[in-house]
Amino acid sequence: MTLKLQPLNKTYNLSNYQEVVDNFSWQDVEKQFSWFNSGKVNMAHECIDRHVIDGYGDKIALHYLHDEEEVQLTFTQVKEKTDHLATVLRKSGVQKGDIVFIFLPKNPDCYIAMIAAVKIGAVAGPLFEAFMEEAIKDRINDCDGKYLITDRELVKRVPKEQLPTLEKIFVTSEQEHCIDGEISLNELLRNTVCEDNITEWLSLEDPLNIHYTSGSTGKPKGIIHAHRAMIQQYQTGKWVLDIQEDDIYWCTAHPGWVTGTVYAIFAPWLNRATIVLNGGRFDADTWYSTIEKAGVTVWYSAPTAFRMLKAEGDEILQQHDLSSLRHILSVGEPLNPEVIRWGIEKLGQRIHDTWWMTETGAQLIVNLPSEVIKPGSMGRAFPGIEIAILDDEGNRQPYGEIGHLSIKAPWPAIMKEVWKNKEKFDSYFQFGDWYLSGDLAYQDEEGYVFFQGRSDDMINSSGERIGPFEVESKLLEHEAVAEAGVIGKPDALRGEIVKAFIVLKKGFVNSPSLIEDIRKFVRYKLAAHAAPREIEVLEELPKTKISGKLLRRELKVLEQQRLLLNSK
Ligand code: WTA
Repeated sequence: MTLKLQPLNKTYNLSNYQEVVDNFSWQDVEKQFSWFNSGKVNMAHECIDRHVIDGYGDKIALHYLHDEEEVQLTFTQVKEKTDHLATVLRKSGVQKGDIVFIFLPKNPDCYIAMIAAVKIGAVAGPLFEAFMEEAIKDRINDCDGKYLITDRELVKRVPKEQLPTLEKIFVTSEQEHCIDGEISLNELLRNTVCEDNITEWLSLEDPLNIHYTSGSTGKPKGIIHAHRAMIQQYQTGKWVLDIQEDDIYWCTAHPGWVTGTVYAIFAPWLNRATIVLNGGRFDADTWYSTIEKAGVTVWYSAPTAFRMLKAEGDEILQQHDLSSLRHILSVGEPLNPEVIRWGIEKLGQRIHDTWWMTETGAQLIVNLPSEVIKPGSMGRAFPGIEIAILDDEGNRQPYGEIGHLSIKAPWPAIMKEVWKNKEKFDSYFQFGDWYLSGDLAYQDEEGYVFFQGRSDDMINSSGERIGPFEVESKLLEHEAVAEAGVIGKPDALRGEIVKAFIVLKKGFVNSPSLIEDIRKFVRYKLAAHAAPREIEVLEELPKTKISGKLLRRELKVLEQQRLLLNSK
């Protein structure tokens, strides 16, 4: 029998799932927005300006912590800063619909840039801070990007000569730190008077942001979302994140990943939350300190992070007072019951799993704080969302049978398009209006969904989506590599790690130093998170007889068999 975890007896924004599901309509959600009557739509307005107009200007909107540095900005200050940057961008030529790439670390400049770009109707394109030259080049060139906002450190990784369409690089620094035509944002801000009424009024269908995401084939694809996504982002923020007026909310993701945009910026600010922003990468002591110092009440992170915290042990945990926490959520990869148990024992909280994808624009399968959790399940459909488990022909599977996790389209946050790739967009819809997620799952009689893996070769390491093709392409550029096949190898801490099988070119001999050199080549050219943690040299790679296509599945089976043997 499945274990059931009962909810705490507290007041939540949604108190009875079934009742809400039975009476739900997206139109009722739309009525919450000022544009429902005015017709004037803009995500930046709903996230920031509206709260100032409603009298919450003095409330803290952003609390940034990094090492010894702490910054707090009120909604009024965020409004002023985003108005000012928006003015500068518009005067610099950025127009409605232009893509503005944002390549910044997790800091206030990054969040301000996101909102400012959106405010003038531009499309925000956040880039993950670990990206190196190749990853940046592929993304900016794919959509002929004209504008980039970055800082004096990260700009060193921008391969300017290989970006023919890029017209302006804005650097969040002084002119003396800018070279080769880079533009100092500090100087521009000093010399520009902030304009009133800078907001570009848009329609719900106008593009909002672009996130590049990996699949099992080809280079990453640009997923475009529209302003209508705010309808679902607002409502999931209210019911799933359960944001209430006094909450201090922290989502640990960088905006380069969709969670770091939607649930670190948009959804909490649509709900007028105070957002915590923590600079730097994972570190247990810093993370616990962040919760303690900022008084975090609602916390959204990922299973690998929870597993890493768990692995750090109790001593470090006991050095911190985490009693402010009242609601914890997880996303991005399977949340093992063991981690849920750790949450209950050590943090005194259930961890609420949620499921969604870059393409879906907002959470679709959720565990709500007022409902029973079945550990191992990602939860149930958000109200207004219809789920089915389909077989290979598109027929519904009975309860308990594994099949393709599919969602009835449309829903408010679904992607608007895949940049310049209608074929890719259409490939999600092989069975009419059922969106095929690529995930395998089963559903029980009560509607709870249990994740069972991917139906393709996409890799999920620490909740970060990695396309094998991108890594293989980079490996092949190394002088010693003749062939490459990349898979996700099961890993207790990270869910999966990137493992590469390679065939060496004639004249090269397998040695630890050569392997390290190949690994670094990917790490420093593409991105740290995509560099294979393991590289194994084979005499040949498995391929199909007729077309000679790489059979990654066989590599995966090989690896799984070995793991099985080792565990015996
Ligand atoms: C996986 C992240 C298991 C899944 C928001 C999906 C999950 C992919 C879960 C999307 C979960 C996401 N349990 N797997 N709760 N949530 N995934 O686009 O395979 O970076 O298709 O979006 O992550 O990754 P993406």
